Amino acid sequence: MCGIIGYIGPRSAAPILISGLKRLEYRGYDSAGVALVSRRALRVYKKEGKLAKLQAALPKRLGGKIGIGHTRWATHGAPSDANAHPHVSADGSIAVVHNGIVENATELRERLATEGVTFVSETDTEIIAHLVARADGESLEQRVRGALALVRGTYGIAVVDARAPDRIVVARNGSPVIIGLGEHEMFVASDVAALVRHTRQVVHLDDGEIAVLDTGGFHTTTMDERPIAKSPSTVEWEDGAYERGGHAHYMRKEIFDQPEAVARTLSGRLDHHFHTAHLGGLNLDPRELLDVKRVKLLGCGSAYYAGLAGAHLIESLVRIPASAEPAAEFRYRNPVIERDTLYVAISQSGETIDTLMAVQEVRQSGGRVLGVVNVVGSSIAREVDGGIYMHAGPEVSVASTKAYTCSLVCLALLALHLGRARDLSPEQGRRLIDAMERLPAGIEAALAAESHLEAIARRYADSRSAFYIGRGPGFPIALEGAQKLKEISYIHAEAYPASELKHGPLALIGPDIPTVIALPHDALLDKSIASLEEVRARSGPVIALTHPGDGRIAGRADAIIEVPPSEDVLNPVVMGVPLQLFAYHCALALGRDIDQPRNLAKSVTVE
Ligand code: G6P
Repeated sequence: MCGIIGYIGPRSAAPILISGLKRLEYRGYDSAGVALVSRRALRVYKKEGKLAKLQAALPKRLGGKIGIGHTRWATHGAPSDANAHPHVSADGSIAVVHNGIVENATELRERLATEGVTFVSETDTEIIAHLVARADGESLEQRVRGALALVRGTYGIAVVDARAPDRIVVARNGSPVIIGLGEHEMFVASDVAALVRHTRQVVHLDDGEIAVLDTGGFHTTTMDERPIAKSPSTVEWEDGAYERGGHAHYMRKEIFDQPEAVARTLSGRLDHHFHTAHLGGLNLDPRELLDVKRVKLLGCGSAYYAGLAGAHLIESLVRIPASAEPAAEFRYRNPVIERDTLYVAISQSGETIDTLMAVQEVRQSGGRVLGVVNVVGSSIAREVDGGIYMHAGPEVSVASTKAYTCSLVCLALLALHLGRARDLSPEQGRRLIDAMERLPAGIEAALAAESHLEAIARRYADSRSAFYIGRGPGFPIALEGAQKLKEISYIHAEAYPASELKHGPLALIGPDIPTVIALPHDALLDKSIASLEEVRARSGPVIALTHPGDGRIAGRADAIIEVPPSEDVLNPVVMGVPLQLFAYHCALALGRDIDQPRNLAKSVTVE
């Protein structure tokens, strides 16, 4: 949720750090800073607020061919100039940028204070800077190692020393650190987004590793000084994939990316001969597939809602119990881990700490866990027993859109694969494959209605509250729709199973609270129409999300959004799309900061 960047090489570091921070700003955006080493001295610039404020504060000419930078999402201490990273040791020699949390910060702070250290910030990171400066050891690497031996918690760090202006030392424990390999220059970042402009050759550090970068390359050791050979991998995404491509916001771009993204998720995975899905990365043989008695899906935020929709899909196609749970709830309730349950962790970034910890919880209890992950080489992708990559392309906007949709498509592929290994008939498999192949066109059709959705959004953007309801697969559609609206427009929105309306929320329905109703043409349609009537009877405005062709809905709704029908279990894929556009246009009408909504961050790597 914070971003780290570092550079060492023949070029001037400042512009590289700033453009890297720009790419990382989506990870956190309440303050930013850089530290450059020039003529054996540190030059540190930090500003509360968005990166543009830091840019405005930088001198025109800024020397230094080695430096580190950071963009922050506050955990310890409010956003302020003083709390922004990099943090510097009392003697002015060491600068540190850090993602993660020092758990024994209070104890270390007290100890340093009794030794006479005066703190200038409220952050846990400043402690690391003082510890490195005061540690024993001839090299910066040794001093970093000595400091980290005292630290309990999670970190991805980059450290520079004004007295050793030929190296950057980086280390990882629970927070990503990726080294970018250039020609006579080296980069480091917490996210490949900041590296791809310069290089696609990267090395991912593992927990407990330290690396020293200089213009000649890097070398890696463990905390206990064992050398480690690391081989580079090539980043899947190109620099251009991170551009907004003419759209006003990343969110709109990513909404419109969806037909192509879904086609990529499906590409090469549909088997028309055996009517199943090829999923090479699952690492499950047919016998193991038969042993699966239950599926448990884990994720946070929109990934959890994708899990809820996926659970419906899996249970109805595979005919085994499937359920979803927020990853943090799961990991903290001492869950029973069963050998015949297949656990599936869903995460766009692959770095969400609660999901990562849930994966570790399952694995250390002997369970088998798969990942549905977008970022190749991310922490979750590297921890799981197998998985399905989304191939959605980079998602930059904080509100998840294409990753939500592509994770659902991955879960549909998993359901097809599991189902065909069990009781799903070839005919059912064939129908599902046909329906999956029609998804990109279905999404295109939903996108083509943008101006209609914009008009509906303008009508309702002034609402102070909204309800979203649905039954069966319609309920996760409602949950994710409400999530999108509150995240970016700040309109209060609540989702309910339509059947629950009369058990409480109906008390709130009235002329100024619109209700979005998911009305897929499935076996529950009549019952859903009855819920629509309950809202109308209380003069509640109704926005019906449905398919063309049922004459009963037109006369009963204040606004109608129609998308092409699909197989019942796949309806959440296409039906989610108009609700993304509706939320986007509500937020636009209200003048919100759509890509970087208040209080949120793209990937939450601290608890
Ligand atoms: C944050 C984001 C959400 C996202 C969730 C899970 O809260 O703001 O949009 O759904 O994290 O992220 P993940 O990367 O694990 O899918």
